[in-house]
Amino acid sequence: MDKFVIAGGTPLAGEVSTSGSKNAALPALAAALLTEEPVILHRIPRVRDIRTMQRLLVDIGSRSDVEGETVRLETPQIVCPEAPYELVKTMRASSLVLGPLVARTGRARVSLPGGCAIGARPINLHIFGLEQLGARIEQAHGYIQAEAPEGLHGATVHFDRITVTGTEDLMMAATLAKGETVLRNAAREPEVVDLANLLIAMGAKIEGAGTSTIRIEGVTRLGGAEHTIIPDRIEAGTFLVAGAITGGDLAITDCEPEHVGALVSKLQQAGVEVTQPDGTTLRVRGRGKLRSVDMTTEEYPGFATDLQAQYMALMTQAEGIAIVVETIFENRFMHAQELARMGANIRIDGKQAIVAGRRELTGAGVIASDLRASASLVLAALVARGETVIDRVYHIDRGYEKIEAKLAQVGAKIRRVE
Ligand code: EPU
Repeated sequence: MDKFVIAGGTPLAGEVSTSGSKNAALPALAAALLTEEPVILHRIPRVRDIRTMQRLLVDIGSRSDVEGETVRLETPQIVCPEAPYELVKTMRASSLVLGPLVARTGRARVSLPGGCAIGARPINLHIFGLEQLGARIEQAHGYIQAEAPEGLHGATVHFDRITVTGTEDLMMAATLAKGETVLRNAAREPEVVDLANLLIAMGAKIEGAGTSTIRIEGVTRLGGAEHTIIPDRIEAGTFLVAGAITGGDLAITDCEPEHVGALVSKLQQAGVEVTQPDGTTLRVRGRGKLRSVDMTTEEYPGFATDLQAQYMALMTQAEGIAIVVETIFENRFMHAQELARMGANIRIDGKQAIVAGRRELTGAGVIASDLRASASLVLAALVARGETVIDRVYHIDRGYEKIEAKLAQVGAKIRRVE
């Protein structure tokens, strides 16, 4: 298992570019199952979750050709409409094939995801939605079996709570259903909009993506398309915090500034200078003392739960007390104990973390527990005195493309050891 060894204390300076969004690329890859024609996707990040999804699609019947950041998928036939436990347990987003498979072939068998490091994360809302669209669903032996021999039909689906992949799964299923589907209380995340744009390019009729009501008029078939994935807003946000926490001067290029608006606002309140030199670049300058600013995670356009851990690392370096409230997942504070090993003063009380700063962090051996927790440990290590060794960095490899190379390029003293 690889580790990162990081020597802290260097302000990061220079330019770092943003890769394509992992969480937009995953549903885009699954969408290729909806047609027998080729789907060509540009700016696919080279991270482990993407490789896992590609493996799954190949098992299902796709041909997948990769050239740099471009992936060409062609699925003349669905050979095996199944997502096995072996893959789903390593990546929950595998459940994104459920909607496309039922829509295209009238059946799917998908493993239930099981436990997760950050919360329960059931897929009951995906199942409920597909049932509204006419699928018959049974659960046995850890799998859900969905059948719709006559095809799916349009329906109104009101989500009890906002779910990102649930919205994406249902939107894909509805593209080939007979009649109109209305998704209410839908997720408004940029990744949902990006998927809708791909589906529209494939011939789907979708209106309202990016708002909480999405209307999909089913069509009889979808065709191939070529599409470029949006920039990864969580990666861009992680770099913004890296610039701020090290008191550096960092330009984050090839990003979509609007998608990180909630974080930028918090950084500015904390006393960090963030400017936008052009439409796809953000420049962050950590000047002087940081102030503590409370933060609550919310669905988009609120503050992303996927940036909560990184923000908490930053708040350990701010003067005062910051209350960080996690509302999306029930167990997403695993990084707090590891940050405490480095000297942070964080108390967890249910959904709240009370972060008392400013504390000097010192390098220590720590363990990455999930993808974004790992990122927060990297950020803390960049500012800690001495050397930090982060174990289990395979978590970070799931979603950050070449993070050590990108950080090293702007001055971080980071290396990977086996
Ligand atoms: N939920 C249910 N039932 C469902 C679906 C969700 O109760 O059927 C609950 C979840 O347990 C959670 C909340 O609803 O408490 C929101 O979950 P959501 O379904 O929105 O999460 P997701 O779609 O599984 C995506 C991202 C996550 C990100 C969340 C929230 C992908 C592939 N994953 O997950 O990304 O944290 O939305 O924004 O898009 C990451 O990249 O590190 C990551 C975890």
